[in-house]
Amino acid sequence: MMCLEAARLAPSACNSQPWKFVVVDDRQLKNRLCRAAFSGIYSVNSFCKMAPVIVVIVSEKPKFLAKIGGMFRGTKYYLIDIGIASEHFVLQAEELGLGTCWIGWFNERAVKSILNIPQGKKIDILIALGYYDREKLGSEHGREPMDKIASFNSY
Ligand SMILES: Cc1cc2nc3c(=O)[nH]c(=O)nc-3n(C[C@H](O)[C@H](O)[C@H](O)COP(=O)(O)O)c2cc1C
Repeated sequence: MMCLEAARLAPSACNSQPWKFVVVDDRQLKNRLCRAAFSGIYSVNSFCKMAPVIVVIVSEKPKFLAKIGGMFRGTKYYLIDIGIASEHFVLQAEELGLGTCWIGWFNERAVKSILNIPQGKKIDILIALGYYDREKLGSEHGREPMDKIASFNSY
C-alpha cells in the first residue's frame, strides 16, 4: 500500500493520472499469469515467477488536453506519466528493502485476458516485486560516465 500511495502521488501532464495499478498477489493467479505472460518468445522473463507479486500498470486514457498537447509536441506524455508513477512505486519499494524489476517484454494479450482487462486497453509495463537475492546482487550497474550523460550550459 505504501508503494501504491507513492505512485498515487506522482505528478502527470495536466494531472491526467493515466494509470491503474493492478496488483497480483494471489499466488495461484500470479503463477498462472507468469506462465501465460512469459512463455514462448517472452520466456526470457520467466524468472518473474519467483517474485511473489506482479504489478500490472494499465495505461489509462489521458485527459484531452494532455493528449492534444502531446500530439502537438510529438510526444506521449502518458508514457512519461506512467514512468514517473511507476518509478515512485519502485523507489518506495527500495526504501522498504524490497526489490523490483521493470518488465517491458511480455505477452500483453495474455495478461489482459487473465486479469479481465479489456483488450482495447494498453499495458506498457509490469513490475515484478519481491526480495532481492542479496548474494546475487552486483555492485556494478554499468552506467555511462557523468560527462557523457550531463553537461552544463551547452549541449
Ligand atoms: C522500460 C523498461 C523495461 C524493462 N524491461 C525488462 C524486461 O523485460 N526484462 C528484464 O529482465 N529487465 C527489464 N528491464 C530492466 C533493465 O534491463 C535494467 O534496469 C537495466 O539493464 C539496468 O540494470 P540494473 O537496473 O540492474 O542496473 C527494463 C527496464 C526498463 C526501464
